[in-house]
Amino acid sequence: MLSDSRLTIHRFAEGGDSNAFASDVRAGLSATRKALSPKYFYDELGSRLFEAICWLPEYYLTRAESEILRTHGDEIVSSVDGPVRLLELGSGSAEKTRFLIEALLSKQPQLHYLPVDISDSSLELSSQRLLRLYPGLRITGFAADYFTALQALALQVPADPGHRTVALFLGSNIGNFGRDESREFLRAVRKLLRPEDALLLGADLKKSPDILIPAYDDALGVTAAFNLNLLARINRELDGNFDVGKFRHRATYNDDLGKIEIHLVSVEPQVVSVRALDLQVEFDEGETISTENSYKFDLEQLSAIASDTGFALANTWFDRARLFSFNLFVAQENA
Ligand SMILES: C[S@@+](CC[C@H](N)C(=O)[O-])C[C@H]1O[C@@H](n2cnc3c(N)ncnc32)[C@H](O)[C@@H]1O
Repeated sequence: MLSDSRLTIHRFAEGGDSNAFASDVRAGLSATRKALSPKYFYDELGSRLFEAICWLPEYYLTRAESEILRTHGDEIVSSVDGPVRLLELGSGSAEKTRFLIEALLSKQPQLHYLPVDISDSSLELSSQRLLRLYPGLRITGFAADYFTALQALALQVPADPGHRTVALFLGSNIGNFGRDESREFLRAVRKLLRPEDALLLGADLKKSPDILIPAYDDALGVTAAFNLNLLARINRELDGNFDVGKFRHRATYNDDLGKIEIHLVSVEPQVVSVRALDLQVEFDEGETISTENSYKFDLEQLSAIASDTGFALANTWFDRARLFSFNLFVAQENA
C-alpha cells in the first residue's frame, strides 16, 4: 500500500490473484476455441497503446464521450444531490473524468475520488497528475480487478453517510462483458451503493459497421499493436515464444448480436511454447484467439439492464452525432 496524506493506493497483485494471468493463459490457450480476457491487454505498454488509440481519428468513442462530458458535465453532476464521493471503475488515464471532477469541485470544496484499475501504472500516473491539478482532491485507489476492488471497497471504504456515491463506468467498458456478466457486474456495483446513489455509464450505441469497424481496425495499426501486445506480454511474463509477425489482428461486426469481435489470427500452422507454463500450443492456419468483444447498445437494452440490476435509467445524454450515450442509473430502494 502506497500512502501519503492525499493519496492511498491499495495494490492487489495481478488485479487480485497473483496466478490469475498464468492460469487464465493456460486455460484460454488450451480451450477448443482459444480465448484470452481483454483485461490482460493492460500491462504498462498496453495501457499506453490504449491511450494512443484514444487519439486516433477512427476511434470516435473517446471524442464523443468527451463531448458529452464537456457539454453536459454540470447538468450531469447536478442530477445527483451532493455532496458526492466519486468511484471510478477502469479509470485508465482518467482524462475524461476531469470534466466531472471539475464540475463537482465547483459545487463542493473537497472531493474523495476512488479509482479502480487493473493497471497499476495507469492508476499511479493518473492519480499523481490529478492531485497536482486539483488541490481539493483526495484519492483512494485500488490497483485491482473490478470484482476484487468492489469487495475491498465495501470493507475498507464504507459508505460515508454525509455523501452520495457516484460510480463511473466510462469508455463503453460495459461492452466487454457478455449479457450475463454485465448484469453480474452491475449487481455487484449496486450492492456497494445505497438507494439514490448513482452509476454514470458510458455506453456505445449500435451503428453502421462502416463507422464501427475502422474504430477497431485503424489505418495506422495501433489497435493491431494493442491486440498483438497480448502475445508479447505472454512472451515477457510467461517466457513464451510467440512470433507476433505470424499473427494478425482481425475486427468484425456481428450484426445479429450487436458486437464487435476481435481476434488474433494465426497466419500459418505453428506450435508455440509458453515455457513458464510448460505448455505447447498448436495453431492451424487461420485459427484464432478471441481477445475482445465490444457490445453495442440501444436505449431499450440499457433500460432493461438498469431495471434487471437494481437501478432505474433516469436520464441519457448524447453527443451531437448521437454516436455514444451517457446514462444516469439511479440505485433503487428495493434492489
Ligand atoms: C477501454 S479502457 C477505458 C479507460 C478509461 N475509462 C476511458 O474511458 O478512456 C479500460 C480500462 O479499464 C481497465 N480494466 C480493464 N479490465 C479491467 C478489470 N477486469 N478490472 C479492473 N480494471 C480493468 C483497463 O486497465 C483500462 O484502464
